[in-house]
Amino acid sequence: MSDDETVEEYLFKIVIIGDSAVGKSNLLSRFARNEFNVHSKETIGVEFQTQSVEIDGKEVKAQIWDTAGQERFRAVTSAYYRGAFGALLVYDISRRATFDNVARWLDELNSHSDTTVAKMLVGNKCDLENTREVSLDEGKSLAESEGLFFIETSALDSTNVWTAFEIVIREIY
Ligand code: GTP
Ligand code: MG
Repeated sequence: MSDDETVEEYLFKIVIIGDSAVGKSNLLSRFARNEFNVHSKETIGVEFQTQSVEIDGKEVKAQIWDTAGQERFRAVTSAYYRGAFGALLVYDISRRATFDNVARWLDELNSHSDTTVAKMLVGNKCDLENTREVSLDEGKSLAESEGLFFIETSALDSTNVWTAFEIVIREIY
């Protein structure tokens, strides 16, 4: 390959974590394939997909890893986090328990990654306004006190899904 054919490319690993059924796999499928599955099965082990994003005229490839929220189905923890440049920590705005568990996920993330990892707290299922149990302000202030980016998303109606990944990728890049 001659020099003028050389394509500059960046590949960044991003991990998605959070309780079971908060919508991690659907956030990923919405971002990577623009697909949503009403009847999606719980993830077993680890899956990943790549998606390219153009940042400042350069193609940046994100390799996004998704694992199970349930302990018994999870991938080996240290391998999962290894080499990650960014993380999405997801809870479900319609289930308070998933928000209460954010602290535990954050502990795990912090103990397996260094401080430079770009971290985004994601309140998913914001389409479920009628059954909301966690307010926007609660999410915001938790993120602020922990030094995380924050966004509410809906994998179902696509609200902010692209933006959530793009903010993390931009921060890494
Ligand atoms: P585990 O793999 O078990 O950890 O779960 P997960 O976090 O990957 O959840 P998954 O993406 O499989 O979604 C769980 C359920 O929530 C499915 O029935 C989805 O259809 C639904 N769901 C996911 N995202 C949304 C959303 O934004 N809004 C609504 N209303 N439902 C959603
Ligand atoms: Mg899943």
